[in-house]
Amino acid sequence: MRLISLFGLPFVAALASAAVPFKDCQHKVKESIHGPPRGWSRHTPAPKHHMLELKIALPQPKFPELEQHLWEVSDPSHPRYGAHLSKEETDALTAPHSETLDIVNEWLASYGLAEESLIRSSANDWVTIRVPVGLAEEMLDTTYHVYKHSKTGESIVRTTSYSLPEILHDHIDLIQPTTMFARFKAFRSTLLWGNQVQPSVLSESGRTITGPAGNQVDASCNSTITVSCLKQLYNAVAYNTSATNGNELGLTGYLGQYANNMDLQQFFQLENPSAYGSNYTFVSVNGGLNNQTYAAAGVEANLDTQFGFGLTWPTPRTFYSTAGEPPFDPDMFSPTDTNEPYSYWLDYVLSQPMLPQTISTSYGDDEQTVPFTYASRVCAGMAVLGARGVSVLFSSGDYGVGDGDPDPATQECYSNDGLNVTKFLPTFPAACPYVTAVGATVNIPETAIYFSGGGFSDYFVRPAYQEVAVSEYLAKLAPGTYEGLYTSYGRGFPDVSAQGMNFSIVYQGETALVGGTSCSSPTFASFVSMLNDARINVGKTPLGFLNPFLYSTGYAGLNDITVGNNPGCGTQASTYATTGWDPISGLGTPNFEKLEALVLSMD
Ligand SMILES: *[C@@H]1O[C@H](CO)[C@@H](O)[C@H](O)[C@H]1NC(C)=O
Ligand SMILES: *[C@@H]1O[C@H](CO)[C@@H](O)[C@H](O)[C@H]1NC(C)=O
Ligand SMILES: *[C@@H]1O[C@H](CO)[C@@H](O)[C@H](O)[C@H]1NC(C)=O
Ligand SMILES: *[C@@H]1O[C@H](CO)[C@@H](O)[C@H](O)[C@H]1NC(C)=O
Ligand SMILES: *[C@@H]1O[C@H](CO)[C@@H](O)[C@H](O)[C@H]1NC(C)=O
Ligand SMILES: *[C@@H]1O[C@H](CO)[C@@H](O)[C@H](O)[C@H]1NC(C)=O
Repeated sequence: MRLISLFGLPFVAALASAAVPFKDCQHKVKESIHGPPRGWSRHTPAPKHHMLELKIALPQPKFPELEQHLWEVSDPSHPRYGAHLSKEETDALTAPHSETLDIVNEWLASYGLAEESLIRSSANDWVTIRVPVGLAEEMLDTTYHVYKHSKTGESIVRTTSYSLPEILHDHIDLIQPTTMFARFKAFRSTLLWGNQVQPSVLSESGRTITGPAGNQVDASCNSTITVSCLKQLYNAVAYNTSATNGNELGLTGYLGQYANNMDLQQFFQLENPSAYGSNYTFVSVNGGLNNQTYAAAGVEANLDTQFGFGLTWPTPRTFYSTAGEPPFDPDMFSPTDTNEPYSYWLDYVLSQPMLPQTISTSYGDDEQTVPFTYASRVCAGMAVLGARGVSVLFSSGDYGVGDGDPDPATQECYSNDGLNVTKFLPTFPAACPYVTAVGATVNIPETAIYFSGGGFSDYFVRPAYQEVAVSEYLAKLAPGTYEGLYTSYGRGFPDVSAQGMNFSIVYQGETALVGGTSCSSPTFASFVSMLNDARINVGKTPLGFLNPFLYSTGYAGLNDITVGNNPGCGTQASTYATTGWDPISGLGTPNFEKLEALVLSMD
C-alpha cells in the first residue's frame, strides 16, 4: 500500500546530458500490478497494429505551491478566501520543468514522434500520442494483451507492467492505458421501477409531514422524490436563481451516457413547468456524443440533467459528454482503448478560461482498480479546479463499504496486491481529498441508506480540514472494530449526503424511479449552485472547493444524519451513521436557508 500525501511529493532535479541514447539505455520497471483486478482475465496477445492513445503525465514540480493556494483560498477564515486563481496562474503552477519537456521530447523523437504528432494539455503537463501496440511495446518494453471481464464481457487492451529508460523515471509520472483496469461505472443507474409514478398526482392528497428543516412537506416525498420534494425537504422553496448573473451548473456524462432532450422536456412539464422549453449547452469532449435517439438515452445522464437542471432553473447549464470506453475492437485502427476519461475531461476543462462554478459527476470505481499514479494525477486535477473556484462534487458509490454484501461467505472485497486479503473497497474519485463526496439518504426522517458508499482511502492521507471530525468518529468505534479492513489514517468519505432513493425521472418517454448516490450528487450540487448564485448576486466570489468551509462552519447548515448503516465486505453493520461526521452520510444533508445565511455572512 502506498499512502502518500500529495503535498510534498519530491521532485528530483533532472541531470540530463546533451544527447541521450534512449534505445540503448537500460529500461527499468516504472509501474507494475500484481495482476488484473478481480473479474478480468488475460485473453490473447494484442494485435500489433491496434492503435493506442497513450497519455503521458509529466511531473508538476510546483504542485505543493498550488495546493497551498488551494487551502488558503478555500478556508473562510483565511484573508485570501475566495481569491481564486486564473487559468494562466494554475497553468504555471502545474507546468512541468523545462528539462522534463526536453528529455521527454528527445525520447519521443527517437521513435519518430515529432512535435506535430503530439497533443499537449494547456499546462503541458500531459502529452498524448497515438501509436500502434507494436511501437508502444517497444517504447515501454512490455507486451499488451486483450483482457476480458467475466461479468460484462468487455474487452480491453492492457498490460500488468511497463518499463521506461531509467533516465526518464523522474520525468514521467505515468503512462496510460497500461496498467489501469478501472471501468468508472455510472453509479447505480439501474431503473428501480418503470412507468409507475405520476408525480403531478402524488402531492394531491394534501397530506403533509414534518421535513428535516422542521417545515411541512408533502407526505408523498417520503416514498417518491421530485424536484418539488427536494426544494421542500432542503428548505429552498422560496429561492429563485438568476438566469443572468454569470452563475452556471456543469454536469458530466461518460461511457456513452446520453441526455435525451425530449425526456428532459417531458420531465420539466411534470416536475418544473417553468423550465419547459429551456435548453442546455452541450460540450463534446474528445469526440463525446449526445445521441438523441430514445434508445440511446442513458438513465444516468437523464437523471443528472433532469434533477440538476430542474432544481436550478433558470441557471445556465452545461452537459459535458466525454468519449472513451470499451469495447476493444481489434479490427479498428482508430484508438478505442482510452477508457480513462477523467484525464480527457480535465484536459478539456482546465484549458477553458471560464468554468461553471459547480460541477457534479456520478461515476467512479474501486480505488484499487485505479493505479496510484493515475489517481494522484486526476486528484491533483481536481485540486486545480478547486483553486480556480469550482465546487467539484462526486457521488460516493453504491456498494456501502465495498460490495454491499454482509455475508462473509459470498462477499467480494479482496485486496489486489497479491495478498488477496479481505478489506473494504474505497471509491475513486470520491476518496480524493480535493472533491466533495456525496452519500445517500432515504425517507423522512432522513436515514443513511444501506448502499451509501463510504470509508477511508488507501491512497490519500486524511486532510487537515477533516482531522477533528473524522477522529471523533473513529474514537466512537470500539477498539479493534474493523481492524485491518481499512486505513484509519486515510481520507474519510463521503463529506455530505442527500436523498438517493426513488427519484422520479423520465426515461425513453416514460416515468421511472431510480435510486443511488447518482441521485445524491446532482442534488447536493444543485443546492451548492444556488448558494453560489446567492453569493454572486451580492458581489461575492463563488464558494470554490467546499470542504474546508463545510468542516469548519458549514456543517451548522446541514441536517446531521444519525441513523443508518452500510453493510458490506462480510460485515453486518459496517460503518454507521452517528452524531457528527460518519463514513456513510458525511456531515449531513443541506438546509438551504441556513447555508445561505452562513455563506452570505462570509467574505
Ligand atoms: C419506492 O417506490 C416503490 C414503488 O412506488 C415503493 O414500493 C417503495 O416502498 C419505495 N421505496 C422507498 C424507500 O420509499
Ligand atoms: C420567485 O418567483 C416566483 C414566480 O415568479 C414569485 O412568485 C416569487 O415571489 C419569487 N420569490 C422571491 C423570493 O423573489
Ligand atoms: C438543445 O441543445 C442541444 C445541444 O446544445 C441541441 O442539439 C438542440 O437542438 C437544442 N434543442 C432545442 C429545442 O433548442
Ligand atoms: C444513436 O443511437 C441509436 C440507438 O442506439 C443507434 O442505432 C444510432 O446508430 C446512433 N446514432 C449515432 C449517430 O451514433
Ligand atoms: C481470493 O480469495 C477468495 C476467497 O478465499 C477466492 O475466492 C479468490 O479466488 C481469491 N482470488 C485470488 C486472485 O486468489
Ligand atoms: C416514512 O417512511 C418510513 C418507511 O416506510 C416510515 O418508517 C416513516 O415513519 C415515514 N415517515 C413519516 C413521517 O411518516
